[in-house]
Amino acid sequence: MNYLIFSDIHSNLEAFEKLLSLKKVQEVDKFLFLGDLVGYGADPNLTIELYKTIKNVHSIRGNHDKVISDLESSSLFNPVAAFSAEWSKLQINKENMKLLLDLKKGPQVVDRFITICHGSTFDEDYYVFSMFEAVESMRFMQTSIGFFGHTHFPIIYLLRNEKIDVVPLNKNTKIKLDPNTRYLLNPGSIGQPRDKDPNSSFIIFDSTKREIQFIRYSYNIKKAQKKIREAGLPEILASRLESGI
Ligand SMILES: [Fe+2]
Repeated sequence: MNYLIFSDIHSNLEAFEKLLSLKKVQEVDKFLFLGDLVGYGADPNLTIELYKTIKNVHSIRGNHDKVISDLESSSLFNPVAAFSAEWSKLQINKENMKLLLDLKKGPQVVDRFITICHGSTFDEDYYVFSMFEAVESMRFMQTSIGFFGHTHFPIIYLLRNEKIDVVPLNKNTKIKLDPNTRYLLNPGSIGQPRDKDPNSSFIIFDSTKREIQFIRYSYNIKKAQKKIREAGLPEILASRLESGI
């Protein structure tokens, strides 16, 4: 079975359209989406419309999805995130808002052997940035393989014989998973990469071969930036796309 794991689209229609057009994506059996469909980018409605076209997707909500669908207030967001959340609320139609509202809370166990969460397994909004936090997240994980998003930073944490290790994810990394190791993986972000590489990223997991493939791809950044600027959203949301921060 081929899984495609992706996260943090953030209303970036250009990056999302490109993802779904990739040849590799045509061979996918099941999609796992780790949250933050909207927020930051200029195309919340069209992004949700495109998301609806994906068949066989298991999704969870992100913190931006919660704030934009009014499940939480934007008071804890930084000013740029709060501005874009309030702007997004005004754009999204009723039907699409309902879809956001219905996204499930993480963590979720998929097919009895994969855990998906937005931030961590113990708190959907918690950022896992360190090995210590990764161990904590794995402690609450009921499966040996887990995927998380939220940081927009692609990485693999491994736990074997009580020892934690970390593997950076570079261009087209392929890793065979060891059955005696526990894994917590982040596919990076589709719509707003933050590891100094502006290209979008995702993971393909072949559960038969137990193989992980990390894939990066380019998209029309200029077009996404132009729309952000034309919408009157904060300039940083446009400029950060080309620097990948
Ligand atoms: Fe995010």
